[in-house]
Amino acid sequence: MKNTVTTFRQMKEKHEKISMLTAYDYSTAKLEDEAGVNSILVGDSLGNVVLGYENTIPVTVDDMIHHGAAVVRGAKNALVVVDMPFLSYQTSVYDAVVNAGRIMKETGCDAVKLEGGAVVCPQIKAITDASIPVCAHLGLTPQSINAFGGFKVQGKTIQAAQQLIDDAKAVEAAGAFAVVLECVPAKLAKMVSEAISIPTIGIGAGNGCDGQVLVYADMLAMFSDFCPKFVRKFANVGELMSQAFKDYDAAVKDGSFPAEEHTYKIDDEVIEKLY
Ligand code: KIV
Repeated sequence: MKNTVTTFRQMKEKHEKISMLTAYDYSTAKLEDEAGVNSILVGDSLGNVVLGYENTIPVTVDDMIHHGAAVVRGAKNALVVVDMPFLSYQTSVYDAVVNAGRIMKETGCDAVKLEGGAVVCPQIKAITDASIPVCAHLGLTPQSINAFGGFKVQGKTIQAAQQLIDDAKAVEAAGAFAVVLECVPAKLAKMVSEAISIPTIGIGAGNGCDGQVLVYADMLAMFSDFCPKFVRKFANVGELMSQAFKDYDAAVKDGSFPAEEHTYKIDDEVIEKLY
């Protein structure tokens, strides 16, 4: 059954945990969807994981649309959320609605996600008013990495923790249907989850959140540039791929691939008539 924003709300009400994973292509999205994952996030982590950038800053709306549309083609039941990249919504409410509209129209996704609290609430309200569901993102927001001065746990002081709670209430009031909490102490994330009626989706925020999200390439150990403390490696697919690539290279070089069973046949009579 198709997961919708209503499913998210009902799952929170019934205390059922929501699962979300990132994907950036059709085949991965199809596997995640068939596995029963509730939601697929086409994260702007695309920049790091797929495009090889150092951070998410260079990712464009066109990048997100290109990959978002592929994911939507692979996801029948999962709620597909596509990230709004850096400077596609911070610049003005008008830009935010135009870019969210482009992302939804050109990918067929179910919702968009953007980073920030009270400061982007006018954007959240305007996008929601245009009938585009918005997932908010608080805590460690990677598009602000230069302002934060690095990847750090957020909300550890009284002031920062209170700000996080206030921001969560503000994005809920502005119309967000869910909020990602990234790199937030577990006790604080649980408090936030209890303080608002929309689901919280945690990443590095403990199990008191209403759902969890991971970057799929992290949980499969496919992305080796860095691995945050909060990642559990559910399979070592990176090692499997690396071994398979080595085996392929060796088989091509020693002539054992392609073998008979990988080869198409032609009648000898045809070959004999050729010059
Ligand atoms: O871009 C992304 O993958 C994200 C997740 C880390 C939540 O925003």
